Amino acid sequence: MKNHVPSAFGFLSLMPWVLHAGDNGTIDGQGSVWWNWFKRKTLDYTRPHLVELMNSTGVVISNLTFLNSPFWTIHPVYCSNVIVQNVTILAPLDSPNTDGINPDSSNDVCIEDCYISTGDDLIAIKSGWDEYGISFARPSTNIIIRRLIGHNRNGSGIAIGSEMSGGVSEVYAENLYFFDSSTAITIKTARGRGGYVRNIYILNVTLVGVDTAIRFDSTFSPHPDDFYDPNALPVIERITIKDVIGNNIKVAGLLKGIEGDTFHHVCLLNIALTVTSGSPWNCSHIQGYSAMVSPETCEPLKESIYPNHSSDCYHLSNHLRSSGCFPKSCNFCLKLMPLYSLVDQKWGRPWSLVYLQNDGELRAAVDALQ
Ligand SMILES: *[C@@H]1O[C@H](CO)[C@@H](O)[C@H](O)[C@H]1NC(C)=O
Ligand SMILES: *[C@@H]1O[C@H](CO)[C@@H](O)[C@H](O)[C@H]1NC(C)=O
Ligand SMILES: *[C@@H]1O[C@H](CO)[C@@H](O)[C@H](O)[C@H]1NC(C)=O
Ligand SMILES: *[C@@H]1O[C@H](CO)[C@@H](O)[C@H](O)[C@H]1NC(C)=O
Ligand SMILES: *[C@@H]1O[C@H](CO)[C@@H](O)[C@H](O)[C@H]1NC(C)=O
Ligand SMILES: *[C@@H]1O[C@H](CO)[C@@H](O)[C@H](O)[C@H]1NC(C)=O
Ligand SMILES: *[C@@H]1O[C@H](CO)[C@@H](O)[C@H](O)[C@H]1NC(C)=O
Ligand SMILES: *[C@@H]1O[C@H](CO)[C@@H](O)[C@H](O)[C@H]1NC(C)=O
Repeated sequence: MKNHVPSAFGFLSLMPWVLHAGDNGTIDGQGSVWWNWFKRKTLDYTRPHLVELMNSTGVVISNLTFLNSPFWTIHPVYCSNVIVQNVTILAPLDSPNTDGINPDSSNDVCIEDCYISTGDDLIAIKSGWDEYGISFARPSTNIIIRRLIGHNRNGSGIAIGSEMSGGVSEVYAENLYFFDSSTAITIKTARGRGGYVRNIYILNVTLVGVDTAIRFDSTFSPHPDDFYDPNALPVIERITIKDVIGNNIKVAGLLKGIEGDTFHHVCLLNIALTVTSGSPWNCSHIQGYSAMVSPETCEPLKESIYPNHSSDCYHLSNHLRSSGCFPKSCNFCLKLMPLYSLVDQKWGRPWSLVYLQNDGELRAAVDALQ
């Protein structure tokens, strides 16, 4: 991430503090001035995120409404044990890059009961960009998303990438409802990204009025600079999408791998879409399996899941499965959090607890023990 500017709320202060957000618990980023500067190309720097959480362990954001972020709305980066619960995020459908929640090089993130309607991706899981993400090598892993409702006009309901160079794995998303949207589920990557996206499990998705239900886009061209390695190829494997129904869908799947870098073990199971396009699936450099998919899927995915490939299609790590918040509510991982996040072993950071919640007044508190 080049040209980083301070965000509207950076919870790096060592003091507890309180701020007021109005009776509704609403935080308005008043982004329109930034969107206009961006559209007029008068900015020398990137725009701020509304909530920026860096190097934090044990974060709860709940019962709040966030409006009109200048850029991404909630951005936990290098964080662990993050809960986002019962949050509404709104920005105009034509506002630029106003992603909802972007877990970035973060682990053990639980997002549930959110409504998001913005100008770009509703949730986008990231882990660093090209050579910088490859060398820093901090993945996003153990991400749970459930009961998400939303729409977009120029983004995706759930996206992974395009900055995924530190790796993304163990993503479990269920009970998703997307309407009047451009894309529902996307994996974005490119030559030069390196990294991996693996063990992704998305189920129970309802779509109404979506241009493209599932998209793998491997030509996401922006690179941070000229020093990226075009031979750094991403590994994309074990992506399972199950129990999807959709009405008024233009295209079921635009699934493009990379020549010489086939995306493996893509599993489609129990998918029923009413599609208007004459060629509902368009696949290249993809390999995988399917069962009960309508309209009939593309040739490279026609091999049956059963009996020989179910282990490729059902594959989440034991850590995610035993994390307390699976398969239950994030509240269960909240209860477990202090047990396993007192010290972040790998990064050796101080224990910190950030609460941003609406219980009468908005409280934001940061405790840090050195
Ligand atoms: C609370 O939310 C409602 C509906 O979104 C809005 O009309 C009202 O102005 C808000 N009140 C405050 C104090 O923000
Ligand atoms: C966050 O941690 C990274 C890696 O340890 C470090 O480079 C960076 O300076 C830290 N940022 C802040 C704001 O503490
Ligand atoms: C969700 O948050 C709103 C305030 O934004 C609150 O009124 C409501 O009770 C919360 N619902 C749940 C289930 O926590
Ligand atoms: C969110 O609001 C609900 C309903 O008021 C409350 O029960 C719950 O504890 C709140 N969540 C948090 C994390 O404070
Ligand atoms: C849609 O998003 C893409 C990539 O983020 C951007 O290049 C394009 O300008 C956006 N289109 C509109 C209509 O906002
Ligand atoms: C599937 O998700 C929908 C919300 O989109 C929910 O109403 C329904 O109960 C879910 N089904 C199951 C089996 O969890
Ligand atoms: C598939 O997409 C490519 C472009 O990515 C296009 O040239 C081709 O015509 C499409 N094939 C079908 C059958 O739609
Ligand atoms: C499954 O694998 C076994 C052992 O490799 C093989 O003999 C069998 O033909 C396979 N079945 C199918 C349906 O591919």
